[in-house]
Amino acid sequence: MERMRAVVLAAGMGKRMHSDLPKVLHPVCGQPLLVYVLDALAAAGLARPIIIVGHGAGEVRAVVADRAEFVEQRDQLGTGHAVLQALPLIETSSDPVLVLYGDTPLLEAATITALVELHRASRAAATMLTAELVDPGGYGRVIRRPDGVVTRIVEEADATPEEARVREINAGTYVFDPRALSEGLDALRPANAQGEYYLTDTMGWLLSKGRRVEALMADAEQTMGIKSRRELAAVEAVMRRRILERLMDGGVTVIDPAATYVHATVRVGRDTVIHPQSYLEGTTVVGAGCLLGPQAHVVDTTLADGVRVVASMVAGSEVGEGTTIGPYSRLRPGSRIGRFVEIGNFAEIKHATVGDYTKIHHKSYIGDATIGERVNIGAGTVTCNYDGRQKHHTVIEDGAFIGSDTMLIAPVRVGRGAVTGAGAVVNKDVPPGGVAVGVPARVIRHVSADAPR
Ligand code: UD1
Repeated sequence: MERMRAVVLAAGMGKRMHSDLPKVLHPVCGQPLLVYVLDALAAAGLARPIIIVGHGAGEVRAVVADRAEFVEQRDQLGTGHAVLQALPLIETSSDPVLVLYGDTPLLEAATITALVELHRASRAAATMLTAELVDPGGYGRVIRRPDGVVTRIVEEADATPEEARVREINAGTYVFDPRALSEGLDALRPANAQGEYYLTDTMGWLLSKGRRVEALMADAEQTMGIKSRRELAAVEAVMRRRILERLMDGGVTVIDPAATYVHATVRVGRDTVIHPQSYLEGTTVVGAGCLLGPQAHVVDTTLADGVRVVASMVAGSEVGEGTTIGPYSRLRPGSRIGRFVEIGNFAEIKHATVGDYTKIHHKSYIGDATIGERVNIGAGTVTCNYDGRQKHHTVIEDGAFIGSDTMLIAPVRVGRGAVTGAGAVVNKDVPPGGVAVGVPARVIRHVSADAPR
């Protein structure tokens, strides 16, 4: 399929979405609709399609960038008029042309390939994708002769009551012979209830010229398009199920798929178990053997193998092997947590590095900090990182023991193996092995900086 081009229609306003965002940029499972279409095309060997843009053209271009070529359709005069805009880019080719919509994210690469193969094998002038729907309302109906040969597509607005009862619909995905397409588009007239140039009329025209039109029936789910927020939610539910099935097939346990929400872009390692009410989003990568949830909310984060996250939010962070988080903690962007760290309940960590085997168990705030290995952060510890104007850094070296309720007035450094007493307000550096107590804290004695803890 290397030389074949695809034309993606995405110029419509999406009026029924009642949205400022172009319809094709609405996310489904965390990814714009249009990106699924581009991915399916790429997987079918049709990279760099031509996208017909109109409403919100600038925003669509910005998201798609160099994955496509763009053609602007200034006035949206119908699907036929939209494809006409791409003709100058495809007319010279003798390869078939695939036409589809940017709002059908459930269409799979295998179906695109099957449609193209049927088109090539049958030598038809055009081959269309159809589906049988329980409720075909709103779609163009496929009209066949008693012997099954397709005779035309009739839009609902133009259908007779008998035609409207037909349950086979036109999915809006077609493969055309390029000459047949160009001739068919030439012949289009907006003589219909909506006064539009219907791409579907090219089928009737080709048939009237004795050319063949083939049809491939797909399962209804794949042809689901999005015109409203209700349809957006329906497609989201199917996509969510597909993503979870892919994870389960790869060795991930999902306790309750109906209550688990994973973005299309997320990767999860085998033998990880996801408990209900968990949300894995964005660029998140989860290692093997992790335990997530109940209520893990993980965004743009890398979790190494064997990490546990219970009832906590982790965003924009990296978490090392075997570390446990929660319940009820929050890791904000820029947190780099080492291996076998224990982050307990009501801890907030932001823009901080935490070394291996460190414990941050209860009610503490660690922001703009570098914490060493095997440090113990006592309950209620706060890095006072903000003086009202600027953020300042706190350093706590390996093996330090921070007593409960210690306030660390940044910038400040607590040396290796040092100790702070409960309630200490540390506004000066504590040397390695120093024991600092009081308000403000002062060093009262020294211990071995390397004493085991
Ligand atoms: C169209 C088909 C109908 C089919 C249905 C499947 C026609 C005349 N009808 O219906 O048979 O069952 O799709 O969903 O083709 N678009 C443009 N420019 C335009 C008009 C539309 O880019 O001038 C794009 C839209 O953004 C959308 C797609 O084409 O992605 C389909 O347009 P829409 O108006 O939703 O199609 P229908 O007329 O409902």
